[in-house]
Amino acid sequence: MSQTPPSVNPAVPRHVAVVMDGNGRWARQRYMPRFFGHKQGVDALVRAVDTFAARGVEFLTVFAFSSENWKRPSEEVSGLMGLVLVAVSKYLTKMAGDGVRIRIIGDRSAVSDKLRQAWEHAETLTRNNTRITLSVAFNYGGRWDVVQACRQALAEGVKPEDFDEAWLSRRMALSFAPDPDLFIRTGGEMRMSNFLLWQAAYSELFFTECLWPDFGEVEIDAALAAFAQRDRRFGGLRANEAVPAGT
Ligand code: IPE
Ligand code: IPE
Ligand code: MG
Repeated sequence: MSQTPPSVNPAVPRHVAVVMDGNGRWARQRYMPRFFGHKQGVDALVRAVDTFAARGVEFLTVFAFSSENWKRPSEEVSGLMGLVLVAVSKYLTKMAGDGVRIRIIGDRSAVSDKLRQAWEHAETLTRNNTRITLSVAFNYGGRWDVVQACRQALAEGVKPEDFDEAWLSRRMALSFAPDPDLFIRTGGEMRMSNFLLWQAAYSELFFTECLWPDFGEVEIDAALAAFAQRDRRFGGLRANEAVPAGT
């Protein structure tokens, strides 16, 4: 929501969004089932949270399961659901102790009661933590997010003249966070795959061939270094071009 003024690019992004892609290929390269890659992906995420927090990033939002991932074979889908439960029981205590505030974004109506309860527990347990906010996008889609926010407008009977970008932003799934400064996608594809369509309007994009389970400290630092070089203008001019009229 709040945006940095033109040409001011703090070296460290406040908010980083990541499409954690490439688990399946990582496993295939090792002649292992795709699930093995997802399992390694969870461990990579736990390490990444720590590294981003250590670098001063305040918000990390990761794409774990998209609205479209239901198209995958049912064994993979149920494997991923089960993996979330295992991950919560394995890592929640550590993350809570490390000062991580956990939020889940996405459509919860389609997941099992057990999963919903695990998320609610994770959110409640960590709600007062302040080191870093980890938002896990699960059954999330950027288009879903816009529609669910608009539905709130309809339900609240908002008048057209009161309906604007700020109003909508307050109802979007990441209303508690500033817009992502840096949007990373691992795994080599150069697309957004329906991740934060609204919120990433002015994010700096960073694509890497690195497959998600291999995305460690070195790769994180490379992404942060690339970000620090970017000239963010938000539609304005570079600082050295923005001389007052008539001079
Ligand atoms: C990303 O890895 C994780 C999820 C979508 C759950 P993929 O499973 O898409 O891995 P690739 O792209 O097939 O390698
Ligand atoms: C995006 O990856 C979704 C997640 C990482 C959760 P996909 O692997 O689903 O994206 P596509 O199908 O290559 O666009
Ligand atoms: Mg993929």
